[in-house]
Amino acid sequence: MKKILISVILSSHSLSAQYTDFNIVKEVKVKNKGVVVSAHPLASEAGAKVLKMGGNTYDAIVATQYALAVVYPQAGNIGGGGFLVGVKNNGEKFTLDYREIAPKRASRDMYLDKKGKANTDLSQNGRLAVGVPGSVAGFFATLKYCKLSMDQLIQPAIDLAEKGFAITEQEANLLNSNKEYFQKHNQSYIVFVKNVPWKSGDILVQKELAETLKLIQKQGLKGFYEGKTAESLVSEMKKGNGIITLEDLKNYKVAERKALEFDYKGNNVVSMPLPSSGGILLAQMLKMAAYENLEKYQQNSTKAVQIMVEAERRAYADRAEYMGDPAFIDDKTSYLISDDYLKNRWKSFSFTKATLSSEVGKIIKQPKESTETTHISVIDKEGNAAAVTTTLNGLYGSKVVVSGAGFFLNNEMDDFSVKPGVPNMFGAVGGEANSIQPNKRMLSSMTPTIVLKNGKPYMVVGTPGGTTIPTSVYQSIVDVIDFKLNTNISINSPKFHHQWLPEAVAFEKNFPETTIKDLEKLGYRTEKWDQIGRTEMILIDDNGNIHAVADGRGDDSVAVE
Ligand code: DON
Repeated sequence: MKKILISVILSSHSLSAQYTDFNIVKEVKVKNKGVVVSAHPLASEAGAKVLKMGGNTYDAIVATQYALAVVYPQAGNIGGGGFLVGVKNNGEKFTLDYREIAPKRASRDMYLDKKGKANTDLSQNGRLAVGVPGSVAGFFATLKYCKLSMDQLIQPAIDLAEKGFAITEQEANLLNSNKEYFQKHNQSYIVFVKNVPWKSGDILVQKELAETLKLIQKQGLKGFYEGKTAESLVSEMKKGNGIITLEDLKNYKVAERKALEFDYKGNNVVSMPLPSSGGILLAQMLKMAAYENLEKYQQNSTKAVQIMVEAERRAYADRAEYMGDPAFIDDKTSYLISDDYLKNRWKSFSFTKATLSSEVGKIIKQPKESTETTHISVIDKEGNAAAVTTTLNGLYGSKVVVSGAGFFLNNEMDDFSVKPGVPNMFGAVGGEANSIQPNKRMLSSMTPTIVLKNGKPYMVVGTPGGTTIPTSVYQSIVDVIDFKLNTNISINSPKFHHQWLPEAVAFEKNFPETTIKDLEKLGYRTEKWDQIGRTEMILIDDNGNIHAVADGRGDDSVAVE
């Protein structure tokens, strides 16, 4: 396959029949055409293909998600869950919450041993880590905004699974490095394990997955949540310690929620409400940083980073204390994003030294890093926009493939607080608000976001990255609105992240050293991370010019209608 790092493509291009020859397109400038940005060129192409067939943004979103479940198995999924934030060209805003839920047999202390010690291996790996999947229900719930049929939207994914496609070098490396986990968690043969190492260009054919997709195509929702697929999933559970039942699957429901909206310097930010912490964190961080007139500073300068980190510290302390599934907690969203509350929270900020995390929240414990989930940004020529972030949680989720059905199951249960103060795989801690209860949705950080200017989509943005998601989206918005940077620079500049606990601020390895040194002098603890996020952004200017950029950190790619 060819890799085009920076290209400006003004016309559309099509898939090759064998899916072995495709371009990774990092940047597109275009007008009066739809664009799709996702983690994989073949998935973006699947979205663009349905746009060409007369579909709209929401058709493209569904087709792209199905295709990602085939070509991007580490995060694209039918065995996980996600969130969609949509703004239609008539101004209507909506969100779909197809987050996984805890099975009915789940309980608060299910990951604690007899002595009360948390076993996060169980919440992160294998069958007990799996939440009831929501993705397929989410795709069906999206249909009411679509123009085409599910039959048409799922077909590109069926073709990719049946005929196979050439895997990229990144995918080959990931499959190789996860082989031992795949073998540990799957008793039967799975297509993701080979005797010889995978290499770039190898063809991955997924016959079982193709059959599952065909069942969904024929039987609709029941093709996943009942009958053969559901039975295979439940028998997979029984091969180990899994607790999902046929009843859990049959009862899964998507939640349609009012989008979380707030003003940011004259722009209307539309994002995901609880059970994602994303929208609230974004509102809190942007508002607090605005109290210091962030626009006076430069991207990644000491003062800008200090302001942003301190806003992150205060927001993430609130995440740990107050946020969870709104059906199970006292939902404090409007208070948490109010200026009254935030101005008071900001009073302890000082340019002279780092705030201690213990000063802004109740501390119990500490961190770790990882990255997999995936984001899609789409706009069509009629001006309908959608941002979707979807996930299996960790890389390849629980690592369990449903035997006979060919798809990975999530390990989303780890997004609950398995015990107050015990960090999850992203180092996030929580308490009662995010404790495990049957049928409850686990708190998320996914932040699919659309920023409107004069009522029209201006930015469509999102990223994977666990708890780094809200801070990456925050940086993207600030880069564009405050620092007036272009989309490409915003996405590909080195990022930083802070989440209250651990105390340290993480910087991408190519982050400006002078800023890091200055912050250390002010008392900040710092650490270096390889990569933060894989942001997909579409920017539409006042004249309708579209600038779509796929993150340079992965195989992410833009496709044009
Ligand atoms: O919902 C969440 O916040 C996490 N399950 C997202 C996981 C993620 O982004 C993994 N990494 N890239």
